[in-house]
Amino acid sequence: MKDIVILAGIAMAAAVVSGVLGVALLHAMRNASASLQATVAVATGTAAVAVGTGLAAKAMFISGHDLDALLIVLVAAGAIGVAIAVWFGHKVASSTGSLVDAARRIAGGEVVRHIGPLNTRELDELAQELENTSVNLESARSREAAMEAARRELVAWVSHDLRTPLAGIRAMSEALEDGVVNDRQTVARYHRALRVEADRLAGLVDDLFELSRIQAGALRLEMECVPLRDLVSDALAGAAGVARAKNVNLEGRMNDDGAELNISLPEMARVVRNLLENAIHHTPSDGTVLIEAGAASDHAFLSVIDSCGGIPESDIERVFEVAFRGEASRTSDDKGGGLGLAISKGIVEAHNGDIAVHNEEEGCRFTVLLPLEQPHATA
Ligand SMILES: Nc1ncnc2c1ncn2[C@@H]1O[C@H](COP(=O)(O)OP(=O)(O)OP(=O)(O)O)[C@@H](O)[C@H]1O
Ligand SMILES: [Mg+2]
Repeated sequence: MKDIVILAGIAMAAAVVSGVLGVALLHAMRNASASLQATVAVATGTAAVAVGTGLAAKAMFISGHDLDALLIVLVAAGAIGVAIAVWFGHKVASSTGSLVDAARRIAGGEVVRHIGPLNTRELDELAQELENTSVNLESARSREAAMEAARRELVAWVSHDLRTPLAGIRAMSEALEDGVVNDRQTVARYHRALRVEADRLAGLVDDLFELSRIQAGALRLEMECVPLRDLVSDALAGAAGVARAKNVNLEGRMNDDGAELNISLPEMARVVRNLLENAIHHTPSDGTVLIEAGAASDHAFLSVIDSCGGIPESDIERVFEVAFRGEASRTSDDKGGGLGLAISKGIVEAHNGDIAVHNEEEGCRFTVLLPLEQPHATA
């Protein structure tokens, strides 16, 4: 019993001394490679065993020959332990190197989708996080680039579409001021043109203001319960004059009389007005513009169908972009600012709805989907 206590004391003392030395050494080497630190950790354990065994053997008067044999076994086992530690440390070090390399590439703007299996679960998790971060960074970068492009386009648009009419207004007012035009008819024509241009500029500024409120998320919607039928009939009544002047047939078709929407009426009326104005504008005389509206399961739909001959495939994806105008609108003397559909999309999305366009046989169909006020009971 006494022997066992002495042995335990010797082993403990050897382990504590080696352990303290090992920890101190590892602390001093805290910036060294993982491989070296793993080697020191294993060597410390082996040294504790060797010292403990040697001292215990001496205390127990084991023969010199037995002690040598014991030490040889210990050295062999320790060498294997150290070799495995070196090998494992090397693996961790090379995995860490791959992570450092991936992080550098990500910082340099590269998209790193695959860092590879990295020998330990923790490093694999870290690699996965880095890959996700890299992909997220890439989409944030492309979003930022798209916003920057849109901003630049808008600035170009503002400088062109607001400056051109302003130059016209200035030229006409100078001509009136200097008395360059003085016959009554021309003077009246100039005054009329000045008013028309001023109205148009006011409309553009109003659209820009609305758009900036939408983009800033500052659109104030005063929601109320509105029968879908009222929204459609008011819009048809409002557009009847323009359609008649252009000799375009305007028709409405409802598949559900009782559907009700929870909407901000002025904003949603503006959406339908924009769609109708566009449809009438792009439909040749004698053509037809049709509004189809109704309810389907949990949503209401409102489609404006025209006879414009179809929107070119290259344009159809872009019609909801700010300041986008189709080739025909840009090259003709269309006075539109290309803001109507961007505003409409913003308003519809603020109502948790959706707006889309596709071509049909004779023209195109713009469809607005909106949540119904109450779940609609289908008969
Ligand atoms: N019903 C339609 N048929 C054919 N093309 C259309 C139709 N509606 C829109 N477009 C195309 O989409 C473009 C963008 O429409 P949007 O209403 O945003 O601008 P706009 O009508 O040119 O100007 P604004 O509405 O600001 O006065 C138009 O210039 C046109 O090329
Ligand atoms: Mg428009």
